[in-house]
Amino acid sequence: MLKNKSKILLNNLRTYSNNASTTKKIYPQRIFSGIQPTGSVHIGNYLGAITNWLKYQNQGDDIMLSVVDLHSITLPQNPKDLSKNILTMTATLLACGIDPEKSILFQQSHVPQHTELCWQLGCICTMARLAHLPQYKEKSENLKDIPLGLFVYPVLQAADILLYKSTHVPVGEDQIQQIQLAQELARMFNNHFGETFPIPHSIVSSSLNSRLKSLRNPDKKMSKSEPDAKSRITLLDTDDEIRNKFKKAVTDFTSTISYDPEKRPGVSNLVAIHSELTGKSIEEIVADAKHLDTLGYKLLVGEEVAARIRPIREKIIDYSSDPLYIMDVLKTGAEKASEIAERTAKEVRRKMGFNIDVKKKKSKKVAAQ
Ligand code: TYM
Repeated sequence: MLKNKSKILLNNLRTYSNNASTTKKIYPQRIFSGIQPTGSVHIGNYLGAITNWLKYQNQGDDIMLSVVDLHSITLPQNPKDLSKNILTMTATLLACGIDPEKSILFQQSHVPQHTELCWQLGCICTMARLAHLPQYKEKSENLKDIPLGLFVYPVLQAADILLYKSTHVPVGEDQIQQIQLAQELARMFNNHFGETFPIPHSIVSSSLNSRLKSLRNPDKKMSKSEPDAKSRITLLDTDDEIRNKFKKAVTDFTSTISYDPEKRPGVSNLVAIHSELTGKSIEEIVADAKHLDTLGYKLLVGEEVAARIRPIREKIIDYSSDPLYIMDVLKTGAEKASEIAERTAKEVRRKMGFNIDVKKKKSKKVAAQ
């Protein structure tokens, strides 16, 4: 008897399938993206994500940007550092040109509907599906005990995106598989509970900057979590730090400058950064550097990148010195985000059956009280 019952349950679970075609409904375009408040923003984040966000904001698109603090606690965080990092990240986004009048800029934990939808989606997502995701494997590699949050992280990311019925998600290359999960969960939810979510598309910028490499190990992406700070240029680095990091960047034994990411990943990464930050084409950079050896070129890139980052750094410091303004920006952003979030949350609760279906107009018991 029990056996049969559990079989029925299992069969029910199997109906959360993902094999239906994409949604037929046309949703208004909405762009969503997020960034973790962990450490300073590096030029990988800046070129791979933030510059794209600016482009959409400035062309008048509907765009929402979240400082995803709940994601950052999937690995241990010192509370004081987290709080400071939320402030600095918001100041950085403003310094880069994110305008709270044009974009909805908010802190993820200020909108509790993210965690509610994460739980609801978590109940239709399988553990096997999550175990395949590369970020989880990477981040848990050196951990003895793996926090549950780290495993569930991509479901929270899907919730972030779907909560606002987002149609487009501009990210760096490392996020593509997470967006695919969000697409699958949207389809599964729609199949099972009725049309609710658009299928979100990832937008990945040009191959040059969608995966900037570490300056110390050009086979790996530039990352906030790499222990060696010389591996990345951050927007808060001083001119001297920037020059020094470029000087120490790992290249190869050929002394001329050329662009060949397959054969010469180190020097090509420097050329890509140089090109993206200065607006010069790859050909122009290579031609201008034809009389330079790699050391001479590293000094030149260091100088030009430092000049480009200097005004952004100065603005970050300026915004960070006014935490009350930052808090006000985040409060207003959360109010706008919450309004949209609660509309979706209500729809999801109703479709999943959380509301009691009321047929009668008046309750006898309530009337008798
Ligand atoms: P995060 O905070 O690691 O990175 C923020 C953005 O920067 C991009 N990026 C890079 N792009 C090019 N080259 C690099 N070396 C590089 N390193 C990072 C990332 O691809 C990302 O676009 N899980 C996300 C945050 C998130 C999110 C979301 C994103 C939470 N919810 C919903 C989009 C939609 C993350 O950890 O990003």
